[in-house]
Formats: sequence, structure tokens, C-alpha cells
Amino acid sequence: MGKLRHPLPVRLFHWLLVPTLALEVATGFYLTNPSQWWGFRNMRSAKKIHFTAAYLLTALFTAYLYGRDKTEIVPERKDLGPRLKKFVAYEFFLTPKKPKFPKYNPGQKFLYTLWLVLIPYTLLLGWFLYFPRFFAPWIRLFGGLNSVRRMIYLSGVLLTASIAGHVYFGLTSSTAFLKSIFTGRT
Ligand code: HEM
Repeated sequence: MGKLRHPLPVRLFHWLLVPTLALEVATGFYLTNPSQWWGFRNMRSAKKIHFTAAYLLTALFTAYLYGRDKTEIVPERKDLGPRLKKFVAYEFFLTPKKPKFPKYNPGQKFLYTLWLVLIPYTLLLGWFLYFPRFFAPWIRLFGGLNSVRRMIYLSGVLLTASIAGHVYFGLTSSTAFLKSIFTGRT
């Protein structure tokens, strides 16, 4: 049996996150610019999905932020120096030797840390719009409703682009690591 790389709670988090976040982002883009291309029936059903996914995502991310050991994820000093150099050299085909990292490479660490901040931040802004009266002073602080909407939209674009990169690397860099996000073991 291979080494345990992803304990069950992390795998559960990952595979619950994938469909909920995909629905949240897709309905978000639909609500911003409704088009039949997305396949949603109408605004009412898209809103229902959007808000249900938001509740689930908030619960999921609260558990993750509370329970996940962040030392594996947040970059250390070495990730900005020698490890980053080795990582960039390999990714840009400057060396054929695949470098070894403690668990995640610096690219993964930057991405996971970005999501650790970006997803809760976007959810918080979304709750501002959902309870505008309650969060009125906060909305003012963030420059008004339109400015909050714009920030959520930009977060949606950044999330989509970064997830595309993650899926690409997840599917192409290592079959053992790809297997481990399903089975837990390499
Ligand atoms: C079908 C699409 C996806 C595939 C194939 C995939 C694949 C993977 C793989 C292989 C890993 C483990 C990497 C390793 O062990 O080195 C991983 C981790 C991770 N993925 Fe995905 N992923 C997908 C979608 C997503 C999406 C949509 C998100 C949401 C932002 C996401 C967030 C994460 C996070 C946060 C981790 C690190 C988990 C932790 O250790 O706490 N993934 N993914």
C-alpha cells in the first residue's frame, strides 16, 4: 500500500468543493450576463442554485480554514528562494530533472494560499449583497454596491483562470498524485 498523502477529510473537502464551486461560479456568470449558453432554465432557478451553493461553500470553507494544517500550504522562506528556482527551471524546460518538494511545489502553495484568501473574501462580499441592509456600513466601506459587484466579478474571473491552471497541472504532472486525491495514497 502506498504512502498516505491526502487524509479522508481533505479528499471529502476537495470533491465537495469541485461541484459546489463550479455551480457557484457558473451561476454567478449567468446572473451577471444571462445567456442560454450556460444551460440554466431562468434567473429564478439560477439564483436558487447560486444561494444554495453559497451556503454549502461557506460551511465547507469554514471547516477547511478551521481544520486544515496550513503549514503544508502557506509558502515558507525557502519557497521564495531555492525551491522557486528549481520549480521554475523545471516548468520552463531548463532542466530535465524533476525536483522533489516536501509535499507541494511552490506553484501549488501560491495557488492554494491564494484560494485560502480569495474564496472566503469573495463569499464575504457575496453575503454583503445577500444581506445589504445588515452589511450597509461594510458595503459603504467597500465603495458601494456596484463596486462590491465588480470585485466579485473580478474574483470570479481570477478563480476560473487559476482553477483551469490547477486542473491542467493536476491532470498532467503526476499520475501518483492524481490517484492520491481519489484514494488518499500514492
Ligand atoms: C477535475 C478537476 C480537478 C482535479 C483533477 C484536481 C486535482 C487535484 C490533485 C491531483 C490534487 C493533489 C495534488 C498533489 O497531491 O500534489 C489537488 C489538490 C487540491 N485541489 Fe484540486 N483538482 C480539481 C479541481 C479543483 C477545484 C475546482 C478546486 C477549487 C478551487 C481545487 C482545489 C484544490 C485544493 C485546495 C487542493 C489542496 C488540498 C489540500 O491539500 O488541502 N481542485 N487537486
